[in-house]
Amino acid sequence: MKSGKEKNRLFRRLIPTLQKHSLLAALSVLLMILVDAASVTKPWLLKIGIDRYVRNGNIPGLTRIALILAAVLVCGFLLQVTFTVTVQYLGQRLLFDLRMELFQKLMRLPASYFDKTPLGKTLTHITGDVEAIREFISDGIVTVAGDILKIVFIATAMVMLSPRLALAAFLTLPFFIAATGMFRKSIRSGFRDVRKANSDINTVLTETIGGAREIQLFCTKGERAEVFESCNHNYLSAYLKVIQAYALYFPVLEIVSNCGMILILLTAHYLMGTALKPGVIFAFFAYINMFFFPLRQMAEKFNLFQSAMAATERVFQMLDQPEEMTGTRHPGLAEAGKMEISFQNVTFGYNPGQPVLKNITFNIRAGETAAFVGATGSGKSTIIKLINRLYDISAGTIKINGTDIRKLSAHELRKRIATIPQTPFLFTGTVSDNISLHRPEITINDIRAAAEKSHAHHFIQTLPRHYNEPVLESGKRLSAGQRQLLAFTRALISKPELVILDEATANIDSETEHLIEAAVEEITRNRTTIIIAHRLSTIRKADRIFVFHKGELVESGTHEELLKKNSLYRRFLPEGK
Ligand SMILES: Nc1ncnc2c1ncn2[C@@H]1O[C@H](COP(=O)(O)OP(=O)(O)OP(=O)(O)O)[C@@H](O)[C@H]1O
Ligand SMILES: [Mg+2]
Repeated sequence: MKSGKEKNRLFRRLIPTLQKHSLLAALSVLLMILVDAASVTKPWLLKIGIDRYVRNGNIPGLTRIALILAAVLVCGFLLQVTFTVTVQYLGQRLLFDLRMELFQKLMRLPASYFDKTPLGKTLTHITGDVEAIREFISDGIVTVAGDILKIVFIATAMVMLSPRLALAAFLTLPFFIAATGMFRKSIRSGFRDVRKANSDINTVLTETIGGAREIQLFCTKGERAEVFESCNHNYLSAYLKVIQAYALYFPVLEIVSNCGMILILLTAHYLMGTALKPGVIFAFFAYINMFFFPLRQMAEKFNLFQSAMAATERVFQMLDQPEEMTGTRHPGLAEAGKMEISFQNVTFGYNPGQPVLKNITFNIRAGETAAFVGATGSGKSTIIKLINRLYDISAGTIKINGTDIRKLSAHELRKRIATIPQTPFLFTGTVSDNISLHRPEITINDIRAAAEKSHAHHFIQTLPRHYNEPVLESGKRLSAGQRQLLAFTRALISKPELVILDEATANIDSETEHLIEAAVEEITRNRTTIIIAHRLSTIRKADRIFVFHKGELVESGTHEELLKKNSLYRRFLPEGK
């Protein structure tokens, strides 16, 4: 359970978001007051009508009251409509802002966040949790504030009508508060479990959709269904807990409000006799009905508070995640040219105490083509991530053109590096969108020129809509080789000073392989290149080869030099051309 202080902290965090729309918020409050005033005025007018005019048979007076009542009804209706639209619009604006803020944050999160957090969980924050906060603001806070105001208005009217009858009605309040307090606990924990189960369901769903092919190929539909069933079951039992609590809560509230009515009747009968005017009794019963309605509604909104509190906490947890170290802009990289990279005694591990790279020292000269070879898991891709500053190292230094990488702006650095990963990601959009990534400075002519250089142009021309061919997410409709060629084009178009290629190990048909070889040659020309190489043909063409073993750099040299030594290199050397 959150302490009161913690709750206040969460609310305070929401205030700046609300302040941006202070005019709308103020308008909502004003409309709310007017709506409440109009509804509380109605029984009062009826009372006047009955006691002053019905009893005397004063028709003109009654007509006047009826007209005033009609005017109040029409105004109340118009105010209610305006209020609903305003308050819902305010909620949607808040939702828009929060969603935008979370999306921006998402793009500033470090690679380590995505290592730890399942996709479904992040998705739940940006969709469900933000929606819960909106509901809390527009349906929760505002309605509850309106309800409190209404209760104050009604209580005042009741006291003004008859203090003794009002006192009788208020005697039931402690029971109401006690009942609410008793059910709070189970509702709160129930809703927390519901949210957790919902996030788990999303995680299993996103992974099942993403891994649909693996599930089919490995015939694990049954196992997957069991995992989902367990999450689904957790959701069901969490909700049942909430339902049970509510099932009990509302009848108890009903009893409390009926007791209030009985108490009033008894008070009126035994203590006050016939001293009361019929209009007062009429108005009083109308007020009692009105009095318990907002109280009940507030109790109903209680779940909103609970789930919104938890959702707010999770959203702010995400907003409070440490961001990527971006560094500062440094003049060291200002002038364009070929990149020189040096690692000095670099040690790094994804988890503290478990180094993946140990004391690595090497120097890649400007314009050189370096091939990294080594067994799987030896740390090659990790080095690439470090050069791109996706993670910061725990010991040693990495220098680019003589400048410590930690002093460079990650944005500037990455703009000059093109990394082609082992499995390139393609976005939903056209072929040319996937090459330009929507950068406005890139024209269709640039795209064509780059595609011709990377030898992707030929296969793009065979697609029915050429450069406008739609590519589904992750490039499902393209072959692995074609995806790789598109990734090469994407890399070439930004005219990088350093190209890093994590060569795909997948078997590619010999024609595409030929194209890829030619593309690699084009890419490496006149620039510093690092290739994590699996093909002998690529390794041989490299100026220098670096051999990694269990996180250590064990050998380096040219193909011939390494062959001469009776080295580890021979063991890693792939069979082939
Ligand atoms: N995000 C991560 N979190 C924790 N450990 C990781 C992460 N990524 C990689 N590792 C671990 O770091 C080690 C080196 O991984 P890396 O991806 O650098 O290997 P690699 O040499 O590129 O292998 P391959 O040739 O198979 O691509 C492996 O033991 C791997 O389990
Ligand atoms: Mg790798």
